[in-house]
Amino acid sequence: MTNEDKIQTLLEKHAEAELGGGQDRIDTQHKKGKLTARERIHQLVDKDSFEEMDKFVLHQSTDFGMDKKRFPGDGVVTGYGRINGRLVYVFAQDFTILGGSLSLAVSEKICKVMDLARKNGAPLIGLNDSGGARIQEGVSSLAGYGNIFMRNVLSSGVIPQISAIMGPCAGGAVYSPALTDFVFMVENTSYMFITGPQVIKAVTHEEVTPEKLGGALTHNATSGVAHFSGKDGPTVLAMIRELLSFLPQNWRELPPDVEPTDDPDRTDMGLREIVPKNPRQPYNMRTIIESSVDNHYFFEVQARYAPNIIIGFARLNGRTVGVVANQPSFFAGCLDINASIKGARFVRFCDCFNVPLITFCDVPGFLPGTAQEFGGIIKHGAKLIYAYCEAVVPKITVITRKAYGGAYIVMSSKHLWGDINFAYPSAEIAVMGPEGAVNIVFKREIGAAEDPAKKEAEMIEEYRRTFASPYRAAERGFIDEIILPEQTRPKLIRALESLGNKRDRMPAKKHDNLPL
Ligand code: HXC
Repeated sequence: MTNEDKIQTLLEKHAEAELGGGQDRIDTQHKKGKLTARERIHQLVDKDSFEEMDKFVLHQSTDFGMDKKRFPGDGVVTGYGRINGRLVYVFAQDFTILGGSLSLAVSEKICKVMDLARKNGAPLIGLNDSGGARIQEGVSSLAGYGNIFMRNVLSSGVIPQISAIMGPCAGGAVYSPALTDFVFMVENTSYMFITGPQVIKAVTHEEVTPEKLGGALTHNATSGVAHFSGKDGPTVLAMIRELLSFLPQNWRELPPDVEPTDDPDRTDMGLREIVPKNPRQPYNMRTIIESSVDNHYFFEVQARYAPNIIIGFARLNGRTVGVVANQPSFFAGCLDINASIKGARFVRFCDCFNVPLITFCDVPGFLPGTAQEFGGIIKHGAKLIYAYCEAVVPKITVITRKAYGGAYIVMSSKHLWGDINFAYPSAEIAVMGPEGAVNIVFKREIGAAEDPAKKEAEMIEEYRRTFASPYRAAERGFIDEIILPEQTRPKLIRALESLGNKRDRMPAKKHDNLPL
């Protein structure tokens, strides 16, 4: 064999591997509106930056005639590339090969890039399109999942881990994504479930479509398992690129600054009128967020889940920040179970990766009711308290209106070591709202009065004058400054810049015990 022949053999092997499960299956994938694993990777990373590894790996299974079903690369494409010039490690499951199912060999390929990502301090991105554990391999494929889960946890808080669900993902194929930081889904072509509709029908007699059971809307709006969705694969891949632009490569680094193109001293007189006079009237907190951040641009996370709290990334004079805000236009901005969990996970992510937290507070309290109490609002609300307490990144808070009771404390108050706490003149910082308070404290006086309604109104007014303002809190130093609303952006930027060298840490311990 000449050298030329050897090179020819190599090129043929490359061509064979690049066909995955064959042209027919690639065509089927395309007909479903889906891209192949390699096409996805090439869309995800910078042009010509992808270096593939383990292209000729074969599974070793022989049961059920599997020795005749071997494809080079076996069900996953792995390697490394660049996104906006920064290193990332990637794996993309190849549905054209045995439904992207996970053999031991597939898991070893995935584990190899996971180890490299962790050791080299670069993000890991998994593009998932898999029928789960390869049934013909039995416990070997289960071992493969276990090995992946172990690495997901080893990497948690070390490097950002991002998952995209780009096809039907069942069984083990959904648990690795659930262990990662952010889950993206493609609308109409991706599903996530532990057991599919057929198994559900057999066990519980429930009839449910795959879309309803585990489609993008279900996991973005109802279960909260996913954080983002896009109308097709390319949209989701572009969103992943954008998300990474806000994040550092690993926990030892700061998020990358961008050259600011917005005036740091920009004020907005419109914010003077944003908080309605009537305390019961809602308004859109997003207006305040967008007015404050660079170029009015807010990259929202979990936009359709628990909309009573808003979370997402933005920049202040070129620096990444994580925003957490109550949304008075949903449930009056009350904190419920879902909002607490949503907020807590985001706060913890930001703290892991050195993303300063900006909190906008307008919250009348935790949502009352048996559904919430039976569902464990106490322990779930505790998650948000816990997350803010342990976060050592710069924490800046703006109270725009209500900050009542436990919800006042939780929303990055001074008492949870908020660094700079602002309030608008419209802020009301109290144990509870005036109506609730007077009916508890002055119940007897009101009942004994000649005109109870008039007495109640008087007491409410007195309570409002005494407590429904930011001044009591400012007198105690619990608020650092009462600001003019139009100055929100410049005040936030200066506060953030003042905290640029903040160093703090939790006491040494094995690990914490977050209330789960
Ligand atoms: C081996 C699999 C497979 C699997 C799919 N295939 N899933 N092969 N192991 N888990 C193969 C199919 O046999 C088929 O091969 C090809 O992939 C494409 O699958 P189709 O069913 O034709 O595709 P589609 O109709 O699009 O349905 C996709 C699907 C479905 C929804 C993913 O295949 C499915 O339900 N698969 C099984 C899901 C599941 O229950 N997995 C096990 C989970 S248990 P041919 O050659 O016929 O085209 C698990 C345990 C880990 O993962 C738990 C850890 C916590």
